[in-house]
Amino acid sequence: MPTRRAVPLRIAVLASGRGSNLQAVIDAIDAGRIHATIVAVISNKRDAAALERARKHGLADIFVDPKPFAGRPDGREAYDRTLLELLHRHEAELVLLAGYMKIVTNVLIEAYANRMMNIHPSLLPAFPGLDVQKKAIDWGCKLAGCTVHFVTEGVDEGPIILQAAVPVLDGDIPDTLAARILEQEHRIYPRAVELFAEGRLRVEGRRVFIDGGKPLGDALLCPF
Ligand code: GRF
Repeated sequence: MPTRRAVPLRIAVLASGRGSNLQAVIDAIDAGRIHATIVAVISNKRDAAALERARKHGLADIFVDPKPFAGRPDGREAYDRTLLELLHRHEAELVLLAGYMKIVTNVLIEAYANRMMNIHPSLLPAFPGLDVQKKAIDWGCKLAGCTVHFVTEGVDEGPIILQAAVPVLDGDIPDTLAARILEQEHRIYPRAVELFAEGRLRVEGRRVFIDGGKPLGDALLCPF
């Protein structure tokens, strides 16, 4: 059975772009679906629309400039140590990567093992990396979709929490497929966060079990 936390889950979001997944989580919290609070939105891009969304909702928006770290041999780790300090200062319990276009290092991954999620616009393990909607079309896939997973060292490789599938239509171009997938991202990312906040996600090796879920039902959200 879902357990109601005494205090809201403290979430930090890392984002580099438009922040529509951030918005979906904000909306789910505002609607009372997730018992959580967003303690910080952090970006490596000064002009990220995600930061603007954070400001609009009165959330702490933080830009951490990657430039001073560039060129240092340990630059990526040093950057992540700065982020980790911020996450600790804000007492973040869960970190969401939401269109965060920087590879996170072990500094963050180890500190937030099984407490850092990412959303990726493909049905992993097919098509990790970039331009994945185009790849799905070029491969002739009949199904595409999105995946929420915990973050581990390999990019887009961590234990899968939720997935949603959409059809690939004959006339699709990457933008039309991306839009269809994005609708599902906005459903499953907040849902995964909700399950985490309720303490219902159990990781065993590569697999994530949803306690108290219907067999298959919660994990497979296929809209057709
Ligand atoms: C989404 O497609 C997400 O799956 C990918 O980056 C995009 C971010 O979009 N990781 P947004 O910034 O949340 O609108």
